[in-house]
Amino acid sequence: MSTKTRTTAGLAVLAALLITLAAAAAQEPTSLKEAYKNAFVVGAAINALQITGQDRRGDAIIEAQFNSISPENVLKWENVHPAPGTYSFEVPDQYVAYGEKHHMFIVGHCLVWHSQVPAWVFRDEKGSFVDRETLLKRMHDHIQTVVGRYKGRIQSWDVVNEALNEDGTLRQSSWMKIIGEDYIAKAFQYAHEADPQAQLTYNDYSLENEAKRKGALALITRLKAAGIPVTSVGLQGHLGLQGPSVETEDDTISDFAKLGVKVVISELDIDVLPPATQQQTADVSLKVEQDAKLNPYANGLPQSVQQELAKRYADLFGVFSKHRDVVTRVTLWGVTDADSWRNNWPVKGRTSYPLLFDRSGQPKLAFQAVIRVGANTKTE
Ligand code: G3I
Repeated sequence: MSTKTRTTAGLAVLAALLITLAAAAAQEPTSLKEAYKNAFVVGAAINALQITGQDRRGDAIIEAQFNSISPENVLKWENVHPAPGTYSFEVPDQYVAYGEKHHMFIVGHCLVWHSQVPAWVFRDEKGSFVDRETLLKRMHDHIQTVVGRYKGRIQSWDVVNEALNEDGTLRQSSWMKIIGEDYIAKAFQYAHEADPQAQLTYNDYSLENEAKRKGALALITRLKAAGIPVTSVGLQGHLGLQGPSVETEDDTISDFAKLGVKVVISELDIDVLPPATQQQTADVSLKVEQDAKLNPYANGLPQSVQQELAKRYADLFGVFSKHRDVVTRVTLWGVTDADSWRNNWPVKGRTSYPLLFDRSGQPKLAFQAVIRVGANTKTE
């Protein structure tokens, strides 16, 4: 074969290869929502700056990457209902309008929680604790007003948040002490009355841990047996690099699926920093003193840890994809690393790297890894 012929043949092969690569590249999804369109919606918790258009960079990422949003703080009781008879709907209205403008699955978070709820809710004008009937009426009025306002627009509510202790017993919150265990059932009933079409979630952290998981499984079983309209369980997913294992995540999703509820991964982030507490928890009340040893990456994250984080995210999304018949939503708890609550909990002023976009809004190795898992998820 002459040199000229060989060169022509080589160029033809190269051209074919480039076309194939381009086609393959063209197939690779460029967004999380596209990568998982056959599996579940992919969301982000968004903050007031993003809701009100003051974080243009964050908004660009949200609109390009996600098809669901959750309100990190603006719909919590202390913000939306700060005083008796006083509701503050300006920013929540903008939140819902934002989601509708971008055709997103809109989540409401959260109705009944022991944290970020004003003290007046549990007390009378003299400062004494109110009785069961009074607190039930306050809960009812809050839920009717807030859920009712967004009826048919917010598609899913975190109705009760974090009602369990680590050992699976019921947290002795003011809700529990004043009303009793049925505060949980009542909250779901009131939410269902206010919007019968809304999906209703019980949301908690560390449900992968055996004792707490057993407590949650028993709680959901009791609620379902009583005909309470619980649609899904939210595994918050405030995880670490090392644990819980993908096998434990897999088993946890399967355990809740057996109860006939859907599963949402409602607040996913993966902390790369040294644990500041022995227990795996996300209890917002925990506070730990600053210590340089607990903040090793203040000047940047080593490539080796970026790679570890990428593998961890890929492994977890592999489990979520495996259970896409049950997992209906995966929400990242923030947009970029700079937005994350993990920078200030349980130690204030740390530099954490728990999400898929870095502090300059650029996709991390973990983002690419998650896209690849989605792209390889077979649709059957
Ligand atoms: O808005 C005020 C601001 O005006 C003030 O200057 C500043 C002073 O510290 O505080 C700001 O409020 C903070 C709020 O986030 C908004 O940034 C609160 O102090 C702070 O406690 C609050 O933290 C939130 C945390 O819940 C506590 O409620 C985090 O952003 C939020 O990510 C986190 O989310 C919770 C979920 O709702 C439930 N599951 C656990 C998860 C992590 O704790």
